[in-house]
Amino acid sequence: MQLNKALISKIKDRTAVIGVIGLGYVGLPLMIRFGEEGFRIIGFDIDDNKVERLNSGASYIKHIPSETIQQLRDGNIFRATSDYSNLREVDSILICVPTPLNNKREPDLSYIETTSDEIARYLSKDQLIVLESTTYPGTTREILLPKLEKKGLTVGRDFFLVFSPEREDPGNPTYSTKNIPKIVGGITPACTEAGKTLYEQIVDRVIAVSTPETAEFSKLLENIFRAVNIALVNELKMLADKMGVDIWEVIEAAATKPFGFMPFYPGPGLGGHCIPIDPFYLSWKARELNFNTHFIELAGEVNTAMPEYVVSKIADALNQKGKSLKHALILILGVAYKKDTDDIRESPGVEIINILKSKEAEVDYHDPHIPAFSGMRRYPHLAMERVELTEETLQQYDCAVIITNHSAYDYEWIVDNAKLVVDTRNATGKIRNKKIIKA
Ligand SMILES: NC(=O)c1ccc[n+]([C@@H]2O[C@H](COP(=O)([O-])OP(=O)(O)OC[C@H]3O[C@@H](n4cnc5c(N)ncnc54)[C@H](O)[C@@H]3O)[C@@H](O)[C@H]2O)c1
Repeated sequence: MQLNKALISKIKDRTAVIGVIGLGYVGLPLMIRFGEEGFRIIGFDIDDNKVERLNSGASYIKHIPSETIQQLRDGNIFRATSDYSNLREVDSILICVPTPLNNKREPDLSYIETTSDEIARYLSKDQLIVLESTTYPGTTREILLPKLEKKGLTVGRDFFLVFSPEREDPGNPTYSTKNIPKIVGGITPACTEAGKTLYEQIVDRVIAVSTPETAEFSKLLENIFRAVNIALVNELKMLADKMGVDIWEVIEAAATKPFGFMPFYPGPGLGGHCIPIDPFYLSWKARELNFNTHFIELAGEVNTAMPEYVVSKIADALNQKGKSLKHALILILGVAYKKDTDDIRESPGVEIINILKSKEAEVDYHDPHIPAFSGMRRYPHLAMERVELTEETLQQYDCAVIITNHSAYDYEWIVDNAKLVVDTRNATGKIRNKKIIKA
């Protein structure tokens, strides 16, 4: 194996400069971790607003404190820029740009492609390039490699290319970048070795796999595993409801089995940047091979039907009280897709608001972490500001709907003061009150 000793020793003695492209939920914690280990980092983002804020020492993500960014700025360890010519200064480039679906629900690789073109433009000998963005197997080899080799440099000898999937779980108090094991798969063994050496400086455990395709597929397996299991409990939730059985109690009981079972929980639908999107990267690629990914499609079908199901439960609950959904006053509690975060991307809460409004309900929301939202890709017409959450406001609404089980809420107080509570997360847990309808 032809190892690049100069690059490896620069990484090991931490004189290697790290370039992080895409300073979002993934890129920012990653660059902070390299900073903590004493590496110098240059962050690249096309969003000038983010670049400016980060250079002024401010964070724009709730669970990342500004002090952390300020410390890196004070130590002269980090600067942000939108000018790709700074790539000339870096030894390792980590690509953390978005990989969404387009409006035909097909992979949108435009961010990866633009970034690769820019990297190719400034590519120099001995650079290590890592793709971290979630994508279908084959992207690193089929999209990045040809662009990077155009300059006449050879992979595995002159430069190094690997895929290393991100496993960030924003807001998780137990697992963060350092103690989440990292998978690395390079185009050549020398590439894998360079990638492995790089991540060993910042994470406790690095697992080398034989190819980038294995690493790309492993990330999708992790997310598809979640999507399918969530769909399973979502379907069983609807059946249990018809049987008059509490699915939450069922899961709690089943989870006492010490082997062969892993609990997944139902909810109002999938949200976030990963689980609703990533599985379709694989099903799209599978179509090239004339292969149908039944589990992915079925899980998608069940999970995307959840917001409609929640709305039907709200309508039924109101109906029991002699009220129609039309003109009913509804308060949504929590619009972030995930507990204790301010992340609203693909949130089922917004979809539920949209459906309720289309049925002419009067809808407001409260979320302790999201004061206002507007301009979302799928809901350009929605612009809302949160209402204050007081006893008086709660009493005004015909129904309060718990979409996100934020820890900041006092659920007993909510149940005490609301006329009717539809709970999609079992946030009201063991509170016994006829006002509560699980959905
Ligand atoms: N958020 C998560 O929890 C998570 C977890 C695992 C994997 N991922 C994957 O990581 C990737 C990034 O996700 P994210 O959540 O960090 O997205 P994000 O939207 O939070 O951040 C992406 C950043 O990239 C910037 N950007 C876009 N195009 C750019 C370009 N050409 N050059 C420089 N910057 C550019 C955007 O302005 C943004 O700041 C995606 O592939 C996602 O699927 C995300």
